[in-house]
Amino acid sequence: MNFEIIRDPRLMRARGEDLRRDGRRVAVVPTMGYLHDGHLSLLRAARASADVVILTIFVNPTQFGPNEDLARYPRDEDGDLAKARGCGIDLAFCPDAAAMYPPGAQTFVEVRELARPLCGEKRPGHFAGVATVVTKLFNLTQANVAFFGAKDFQQLAVIRRLVRDLDLGVEIVGVPIVREPDGLAMSSRNAYLSADERRQALALSAGLAAAEAAFAAGERDVAALVATAGALIAAQPAARIDYLELRDADELAPLERVDRPAVMALAVFIGKTRLIDNRVLRP
Ligand code: PAJ
Repeated sequence: MNFEIIRDPRLMRARGEDLRRDGRRVAVVPTMGYLHDGHLSLLRAARASADVVILTIFVNPTQFGPNEDLARYPRDEDGDLAKARGCGIDLAFCPDAAAMYPPGAQTFVEVRELARPLCGEKRPGHFAGVATVVTKLFNLTQANVAFFGAKDFQQLAVIRRLVRDLDLGVEIVGVPIVREPDGLAMSSRNAYLSADERRQALALSAGLAAAEAAFAAGERDVAALVATAGALIAAQPAARIDYLELRDADELAPLERVDRPAVMALAVFIGKTRLIDNRVLRP
C-alpha cells in the first residue's frame, strides 16, 4: 500500500469500509500531532499488530477549555507525516475542524464517574470532547484495534469504558509511557518549556519515583505517599500543583490505604505549561 493522506471524513469512512470488506486488520492511532517518540511507540506497536495502520492527526477543539492552549497547540504536519512514513504507516487521516464539526453539530458522548475526578474535575468538558472525537474516529476509520498511551491514564480508562458501554467493538491496546532519558514523560507540550522550566519539570517524574520508592519500602498510607511526591514538586519555584492524587486504578475511586492496584496521577503547571504524569502502584 502506498502512503496516503485523507482529509475528508466521508472519504475516510468509505476507505475504512473498503479495508474492512477486504478482511484486513486495521489499526488506528489517534493523535493531535506534533509527534514525539511516545506517539511513535504507539505507531510501532500498531504496525506490529495490524495489516493497515491509520494515524489520525486532529487538534480536537471540543476537548479544550476556553482558557486553554487550543490556538497555540504546536503543529508540524509535514514533520509528522515524514515520521509516520518512517514507521511504515499506510494512511494518515488529517481532517480540519469544520469537517469534523459542521455547523449544527450538537451530539456528545459522556462517560460519567470515571471522567469526573482528576483531569475531569480540572478540565470541565474535556473528556466529553475526547470521548466524542474518539467515537467519531472509530466510526470513520472502521478500525478493529486502537492504540493509546498510558501517559494519559484516565483517558485510557475512559476510552476502555466508552467502548465497553457503547459496544463499539474496537479492541483497545494500552502502551507504556515513553520518557526522556532523565525521566520526564514525553509530551507535545514539553515544547513550551524554557530551559529552566525543563529542569524543574523533572520534579514530576522524580516525585512519582520517590513515592514509588516509599511504597516499595512498605508505605501504604495514601496521605504519606502523596506528601512524599508533593514535597519534591512543591520545592520547584515554577511548579503549581493542579492535582496530585492516589486513587484505585480500576474505578479511580479515592483510597486511604493502597490495598489494591492504585495510580498516583498528577497535573502540574510549570510556569504556564500544564504537564501530566502517573505511576501505577501494585501491592
Ligand atoms: P495526544 O496528546 O497527541 O496523544 C496521542 C496518544 O499518544 C495518546 O494515546 C497518548 O496517551 C499517547 N502519548 C502521548 N505521550 C506519550 C508518552 N510519553 N508515552 C506513551 N504514549 C504517549 O491524547 C490525545 O492526543 C487526544 O486526547 C486524542 C486521544 C487524540 C483525542 O483527541
